[in-house]
Amino acid sequence: MTPSISRIGVLTAGGDCPGLNAVIRAVTKTAMFQHNLEVYGIEDGFLGLVENRMRPLSREDVSNILTRGGTILGSSNKCNPQRYAVGEEEDGKPIFEDMTNLCLRHLKRRGIEALIVIGGDGSMSGAANFVRRGVNCIGVPKTIDNDLVGTDVTFGFATARYIATEALDRIHTTAASHHRAMVVEVMGRNAGWIALESGVASGADILLLPEIPFDIDKVCDVVKERSRYGKAFTIIAISEGAKPIGGEQVVHHVDPTSPDPIRLGGVGERVARQIEEKTGIDSRCTVLGHVQRGGTPVPEDRVLATLFGYHALELLANGAQNRLVVMQGRTIADTEITRAENKQRTIAPDHLLIAAARAVGTSFGD
Ligand code: F6P
Repeated sequence: MTPSISRIGVLTAGGDCPGLNAVIRAVTKTAMFQHNLEVYGIEDGFLGLVENRMRPLSREDVSNILTRGGTILGSSNKCNPQRYAVGEEEDGKPIFEDMTNLCLRHLKRRGIEALIVIGGDGSMSGAANFVRRGVNCIGVPKTIDNDLVGTDVTFGFATARYIATEALDRIHTTAASHHRAMVVEVMGRNAGWIALESGVASGADILLLPEIPFDIDKVCDVVKERSRYGKAFTIIAISEGAKPIGGEQVVHHVDPTSPDPIRLGGVGERVARQIEEKTGIDSRCTVLGHVQRGGTPVPEDRVLATLFGYHALELLANGAQNRLVVMQGRTIADTEITRAENKQRTIAPDHLLIAAARAVGTSFGD
């Protein structure tokens, strides 16, 4: 079907992740080659909409970027046009203004008739704001956290899982040499997907997830029990969002200008210190941090990104409005974009992989 539009915009918003460029490439090439559509790249996510920074993307712009990490368009996880920081009050508190009308004017002047929003739950909330103002937005689910509602998987997750698995494998040999308890803190916000899947893949002994609050004494019991059985080392994969039973998550810092102001981090070091104090076993913590978001995407993410980008364009070309591209089972499908707004897909405590991990002797510290 011939699309009734001629120019679209694409933006990458929120924290970056491997595969963003692969989606930009798929969107732009499908638009040009199959639908004769012009594509404008909007710089730094929603910030580029507010500041009117956007440029037409050519075939050359999207050539040779399939394997490249990051995003050629730039991204920002600080900009919500509805609540845009325009200055500070005397006491340092940010002053916010709604910039939605300004963004709409920029889109109109550029002749951009629909937006492809590549992002996570915060970015889909940003898209929902424009949807309510009459802009057709098609969402593509991105995040290493794998926590977007409506899709079984987001692109970027497979690469982060691979990086975390490789790190855990490498920690294994040094842990064994020094007879230590080694804690590896991974990202994921309030969802434990990275810790669960990399932990299972690397055979970690203890997995501490946000979805299953832990008891530090039970964690220490496992460490001591292992040394009694002659395993003088323990590998613990911990999500940055993990918390003790009845306790709180460890907040690294708060950024009031960000739509999602809480930055987690530090629970791994805390747990390592407690293990050392309570067991007398030498303990160390490694925080993987942004390494999990950098570098080239694994083939699985390149394939998923290409499928997602292609499907987004097919939706637009067929006149669809305000859809989120998703993966359900092994099928690419789509759902209402507003479904993913400000919600997170966490792990059900009775998830099959948790049951399988428990069955092979992995502890969740509960
Ligand atoms: O959502 C992706 C993510 O990497 C989270 O796992 C992490 O909590 C957060 O972003 C870190 O954000 P920032 O890049 O602002 O430090």
